[in-house]
Amino acid sequence: MYRNAPFAWRARVTALPGMTLEQLIPAPARAEAVPGSSFVAGPATTLWAGPGTESTERWLRATLGAALGLPLTPGAEGAGRSVVLLVDASLEPEAYRLTLDEARVEIRGGAAPGVFWGAQTLRQLFGPDAFRRAHLRPGTPYSLPACVIEDAPRFGWRGMMLDVARHFMPKDGVLRYLDLLAAHKLNVFHFHLTDDQGWRVEIKRHPRLTEAGSWRARSKWGHRNSPLWEERPHGGFYTQDDIREIVAYADSLHITVVPEIDVPGHSQAAISAYPHLGSTDVVDTRALTVWDTWGVSKNVLAPTEDVLRFYEGVFEEILDLFPSTFVHVGGDECPKDQWKASAAAQARIKELGVEGEDGLQSWFIRHFDTWLTARGRRLIGWDEILEGGLAEGAAVSSWRGYRGGIAAAKAGHDVVMCPEQHVYLDHRQDGGPDEPMPIGFVRTLEDVYRFEPVPAELTEEEATHVLGTQANVWTEVMENQDRVDYQVFPRLAAFCEVAWRRLPAPAERDFAGFERRMTAHYARLDALGVDYRPPAARCPGSGGRPPKG
Ligand code: ACM
Repeated sequence: MYRNAPFAWRARVTALPGMTLEQLIPAPARAEAVPGSSFVAGPATTLWAGPGTESTERWLRATLGAALGLPLTPGAEGAGRSVVLLVDASLEPEAYRLTLDEARVEIRGGAAPGVFWGAQTLRQLFGPDAFRRAHLRPGTPYSLPACVIEDAPRFGWRGMMLDVARHFMPKDGVLRYLDLLAAHKLNVFHFHLTDDQGWRVEIKRHPRLTEAGSWRARSKWGHRNSPLWEERPHGGFYTQDDIREIVAYADSLHITVVPEIDVPGHSQAAISAYPHLGSTDVVDTRALTVWDTWGVSKNVLAPTEDVLRFYEGVFEEILDLFPSTFVHVGGDECPKDQWKASAAAQARIKELGVEGEDGLQSWFIRHFDTWLTARGRRLIGWDEILEGGLAEGAAVSSWRGYRGGIAAAKAGHDVVMCPEQHVYLDHRQDGGPDEPMPIGFVRTLEDVYRFEPVPAELTEEEATHVLGTQANVWTEVMENQDRVDYQVFPRLAAFCEVAWRRLPAPAERDFAGFERRMTAHYARLDALGVDYRPPAARCPGSGGRPPKG
């Protein structure tokens, strides 16, 4: 085998799996092969980047060039054997047209993002080698099938939420996830930065949020009612420079980072760092620590002016760090026990003239709604925020099923659909006994493929309020990156089809065809080093069907 190899492979045009039009994920809207012709990319291939395409030019050299050993030296627009990038304003900003013939590869995008998504498709056409960090076959020319691909996304919000509070993901892991989102044409990274179990973003004016609030002494192992503990400290946080780097990197990949600071619930880590933020007339908040178990803590923010000023300071720094129009304020799962028991909170209800404790929660959210709007931003929160009425412009992440999203859209609010029954990727992927820490609903790859973000209850006009969809990754039982990979993949590949494509009704979707395309995609994920859940066929003994009865 060794004897001939060094000479034989140099002369060969590599034809690796994953190079046909039928293996793209997400599948494009239209792809037409031009039989009998191909573009051969090699060391002489040049790259010409028109105005407005610089981000893709840099990405192609750094990523595709490095993976395939293509220098992609600057060329002229009309040069032979070239890759050409253009903005074509007749297309929608995220749409692209990819034309491959013998002489050149041309990517036209409606704006910079469209050019970039076209480059992602081009990468898939090169096969799995294109997903490595360094090239394995020096001097190898790569042959691409001549074709025309026209494509555009269904939704403008195609996201993934990552909870870095329950388990911290160090910065490198976050940057890696941004690469993975881009490879799936997803364009929103919802960054869940604070919760009962940890505060993960440096706030200069309140340093104890990270000094004290970013570490916990131990962690629950498994479900919230499990008797087991991981008896070692867990924590970490991003400095403001880390955040700037993450945001800038995301921007280079045409991904918007939407930060989430969860108020007024899910705040025990903050209260443990600054005890005056809690209901001090009900509990001795000085004795609180960063929470070490899962669930919903009863230690929520006190409804005081002091707390509002404190969080205005937090959000001021958040706005400096994150240019995103939308800022997520959480608003989910705020137990009212302490407000009920607190004389100060009860006095506040009277003073503000609001309807009980629920009215207090609305007052809290409305304050930040007005505050963000005055600064040119838009508030988004979990669907509980609907309960007290919302200011115009506020949007809702519909997680408790479709109901909240339907109500929001009917009331004229924008919605991101992320119902827990469908796209919570912490939930198990199979009913078999071998799933690690099996929690929640069983949501198979096929279930995710058949998820429909726009419910039939909405009229065409109301449906325009569905900005898009996102998959949510809560990390209570994902203690490291391998576990995150396992829960997220391969389901994120099915999710990206749902978010990008105009698929038929759920029952009519060609899941068998998707699975066939996944064969090539697993090879890409392998090259990327993604620790996905293997398909059942590769892993006898696991991936079994749910027990009968
Ligand atoms: C949520 O799952 N509590 C938004």
